[in-house]
Amino acid sequence: MKICVAKDYNEMSRKAANIIGAQVIMKPNCVLGLATGSSPIGTYKELIKRYEEGDLDFSQVKSVNLDEYKGLPRENDQSYYYFMNDNFFNHINIDKENTNVPNGMEPNAEEECARYEELINSLGGVDLQLLGLGHNGHIGFNEPAPQFDKVTHCVDLQESTIEANKRFFASADDVPRQAYTMGIGTIMNAKKIVVVVSGEDKAEIVNKAFFGPVTPEVPASILQMHPDVTIVCDEAAYSKVAR
Ligand code: GLP
Repeated sequence: MKICVAKDYNEMSRKAANIIGAQVIMKPNCVLGLATGSSPIGTYKELIKRYEEGDLDFSQVKSVNLDEYKGLPRENDQSYYYFMNDNFFNHINIDKENTNVPNGMEPNAEEECARYEELINSLGGVDLQLLGLGHNGHIGFNEPAPQFDKVTHCVDLQESTIEANKRFFASADDVPRQAYTMGIGTIMNAKKIVVVVSGEDKAEIVNKAFFGPVTPEVPASILQMHPDVTIVCDEAAYSKVAR
C-alpha cells in the first residue's frame, strides 16, 4: 500500500489525476472504474483540464461505475448516472456508449447485478479503480457487514450513510434505501486501485481502515491486501495516523 499525503484537497486531486492520467496515456483503451461523492469531484475537474489542454484523450477509454441508487431514474440529479455525466463525461471526449453505471431502475436486483458483473468481466476487468471512502469505511456502497460481499449486489444502506448523503436530497426521507454496488471481490479484482480521501472528518476512518485490522466491519480495510493500491489523502485526513 502506498500512501501519498497532499497538502489539501486541490493537491490531492492533482495527484490522483496524475495517476489516472498516466493510466490513460499508458493504455489509451483502458477500463476505468469510477466513483461518485465529493471526494473525486476535484480529480475529475483536473482530468477535464488536462483533456482541454490536449494532454489527455479519452476517446478509447471505457468506464464502469461502482454503484447506483436503486429506484432513482437516470434523469434525477441525484442519480450517479447524472453525477458522472455532469461532473465528468459531458466535459471530455469519452464515447458515452463506453460508459457504464448500474441501472438503478431495473427492479430485478439479481438480474441487474449479474448483468453488471458479467459486463465488467466482458470488458476484461478494471485497469484502475478510483474509490472514495465512507465515514463508516464503506467503499462503493459496501457497508460494514459480518462478511465481505464478493460480487455486484443489492445493499440496504445504513442509517449513517443515509444521514451523510441526505445533504444532496430535499430530506433524509428522499434518500433511496437501497443501492446496487460492485462487491468487494469486484473491487479487489481491479489491477490498480486509487483511493481519494480528504478532510478531518475522515481522519478516524483513514487510521482504522488502512492501519487497523482487516475486517468486513470496516470494508475498506481489505484494500490493505491488494497488491497495487495508492491512498491519496490530504493532511487533515492523515492527521490521526499514528506516526
Ligand atoms: C457514497 C458513495 C461512495 C463514496 C462515499 C463517500 O455513499 N456511494 O462511493 O465514496 O459516499 O462520499 P464523499 O466522497 O462525498 O465523502
